[in-house]
Order: sequence, then C-alpha cells, then structure tokens
Amino acid sequence: MQNPEVIIIGAGASGLMCAIESAKRGRKTLVIDHANKAGKKILMSGGGRCNFTNYTIEAGNFISANPHFCISALSRFTQWDFLAMVEKYRIPFHERLHGQLFCDDSAKDILNMLLDECKHYGVTILLECTLQALERTSGGFALQTSKGQFHCQSLVVASGGLSIPKMGGSPLGYKIATQFDLPVKATRAGLVPLTLQDSDKEQLAPLSGIAVASQVSFQQLSFKENLLFTHRGLSGPAILQISSYWQPGSSLSINLLPAIDLLSELKQSRAQGSKLKLQTVLCDLLPKRLLQTLLSEELLDLPMANCADKHLQQVTNSLQNWQVKPNGSEGYRTAEVTVGGVDCSAISSKTMESLTVPGLYFIGEVLDVTGWLGGYNFQWAWSSGWCAGQYV
Ligand code: FDA
Repeated sequence: MQNPEVIIIGAGASGLMCAIESAKRGRKTLVIDHANKAGKKILMSGGGRCNFTNYTIEAGNFISANPHFCISALSRFTQWDFLAMVEKYRIPFHERLHGQLFCDDSAKDILNMLLDECKHYGVTILLECTLQALERTSGGFALQTSKGQFHCQSLVVASGGLSIPKMGGSPLGYKIATQFDLPVKATRAGLVPLTLQDSDKEQLAPLSGIAVASQVSFQQLSFKENLLFTHRGLSGPAILQISSYWQPGSSLSINLLPAIDLLSELKQSRAQGSKLKLQTVLCDLLPKRLLQTLLSEELLDLPMANCADKHLQQVTNSLQNWQVKPNGSEGYRTAEVTVGGVDCSAISSKTMESLTVPGLYFIGEVLDVTGWLGGYNFQWAWSSGWCAGQYV
C-alpha cells in the first residue's frame, strides 16, 4: 500500500479489530507486524479454542491504576457485539465455568473471521515488517521499516505486552510511548504460575500433578478455582488469577476445602464417636499425598475420638488457611498477560488517542488495562480496538 492514512503496529487481536473498523470507514489502512503470521496469540489462546469473551464483563474484572478507564470502551463495543460477529460467521461456541465462551472447534475460526473481515474491507497486512525508526511529521508520522518507508496520518500502537516473546511479545509499545513522553506504569507478568522457595518446593514436590478445588486469597481478593501443584510451584486457574495481584514478599492464603466448614464437620464426626483415624476421615475430602505433606504423621494417626479441639483447629488451619509465600513467578516466558503498561491517564478513554500527541493511539494489552482469566483480555482488545477504529 503506497499511501496509507492509518498504520496499525500489531496484527493481533486489538490491531485486527481496529483495522476492520478503520477500513469500514473508508480509511486506507495498513497493519504491520514483525511476526511471520497474524494473530499468533489468538491461535494459542484457550488451549487452542480461544476463550474469546465472557457473558459477564464488568470493570471489576480488570486491573488498572485507573480502574474507570476501561468502562467507556467496554460499554460501546460489548461482549454481545463480538458475539454477534461470531454468530454472523456461524462459529460454533460453548460456555464453560463463570460465563467463559470458547470456540467448539478451533481458535482458527476467530482469527479467520478477523482476517476475512480485513480482506473484505481492503486492509493491507504486512508481515515480517520491523519498525526501525519513527518520527512525527507535520501531517502525521513517518515510519522507517524493514519493508520501506511509510507515512500516515494516524498511528495505532497495538503491539501487545511482553508475555511470550517467542509469540511476538515485545516492549515496542512502551518505547513508542516513552519516545513521545507518555508515562508508562511499571510492568510485571500476570496470569502466570508462581514459584516457591527451595524448602517449600522440596516439601511439595511429591504433589506435582495434583489438582484440587481451592479458594486462593491475597489481601481482600479471593478466587475460587482449581489449584495445580507443579514441580516448580503452584499453577491452575486460582493461582493464575491471584498472580496478577500478588506482590513479591507477600503470602497467599489458601483454602483447600472451600466448600465446607471443616471444623464443624470434624467435630460432628468426633461427636458421633467415630473410631476412624483422622487420616481416614480426611481422605474422603483430599488426596492422601496432600494430607501427608501438609499434616504430621502423629496428627493423622490420631483416632477421631482422641482428637482434642486444638488438634481439629490445627488441621483446619493447615487445610483452610494454608499460608504460602511464593518467591516469584515463572515470568513472561509463560505469562498470559502483562500487568501495567502505557498509563491510561495519558489516553482518551473515548478514542484511545493520546491526549498530548494528536494522531497517536494505543489499544489492547499495551495499555495499563489487564483482564482476569476468562476471556476478559480479548474483550478488552476487541473493545479498545473497535473504539479507536471509529476515530483513526
Ligand atoms: P497481541 O499480543 O494479540 O498482538 C500484538 C501483535 O503485535 C502481535 O502480532 C505481535 O507480533 C506484534 N508486535 C509486537 N511487537 C512488535 C514489534 N516490535 N514490531 C511489529 N509488531 C510487533 N485472553 C483471553 O481473553 N482469552 C484467552 O483464552 C487467552 N488465552 C491466552 C493464552 C496464552 C498462551 C497467552 C499468551 C495469552 C492469552 N490471552 C487470552 C491473552 C490475549 O492473548 C491477549 O491479552 C491479547 O492477545 C492482547 O491483544 P493485543 O492486540 O493487545 O496484543
């Protein structure tokens, strides 16, 4: 494309959505991406089935230094608007826990839909194109790239975050923001497994592969989901969710039996004169290996009838208020998202345009808006991309 009016850096979820909307308005739109394929993260998302949105989308499902910023975009292009596209393309989908919507067949269906729409409206996508230099001109922006020089009136940064560098994650968006004196909030890996200090890792190593229902809490926040023990630490949806909030040096409180009042149940069993050992009673509730790791042999061998209140309280504390202090996370190599990013206070929540650099837009994960696990990050990408597409 010789003279694009709009250039979008990043052919991912937000960039493709923005390109469709921009081109629909008749704007000559070019998308550039350094990867050899568009939408790589879409393809690998949701275990290959793309959890593309959620039936319930609220500002509370997002983390940002400016928690109100996302509301406008999310309410102008909603989950129902995205579903309407999915239905128009007759993409079969299903609901899983907590309103999460996944493709029945493959994440390819979502990417193909976006690429079809791009094609239909005449978007040009240039892959394996790296940005070498960027400067502001009187009419907009000049980009020097590995595929030549381009000029445009509107420049959209849709380059995502730092997660999974192998899939295209890069700090380009933060560099562009800094080049134009826009503030960037400190970044860290989110939706990521947490690692344990050596002593805990050694103690919990035999549990690797075990998954249990749990309620994991940090400060005022709790997530009731599965927890998975791994050979490096803790994972599973409950841990991924809390990882986006967890602060290094702090402990997590884990309830391994979130559905019951354990102390009452144990007292009841004792009152019924149960002759069973504590271990036998607890084995109905949790895997034996887990009990043997978290509770002493002496305690587990006690017959129910001989358990004093202090023993039952000790068991309850260990299983329902287990304190774990992770020593870090597995980092961007495996993180699903980057928490932090371009400071929303520098961006219009209506247009996604910089408040100080006319014509420069930021959308998707590069912004300091991070969703929970459950289709929220894609919905943010669709909503913010759609909004920018109305104005570029
Ligand atoms: P996205 O990362 O999609 O796109 C950015 C694009 O910019 C990429 O194509 C990249 O190659 C390009 N780019 C980066 N740097 C560049 C540079 N220097 N030059 C040129 N191009 C550059 N979310 C969800 O809601 N449901 C889910 O099921 C999942 N599952 C999931 C699984 C895994 C393994 C990961 C890693 C992530 C998810 N996510 C998710 C998160 C979701 O994928 C993510 O939030 C969105 O893709 C963000 O969309 P963006 O358009 O902002 O960035």
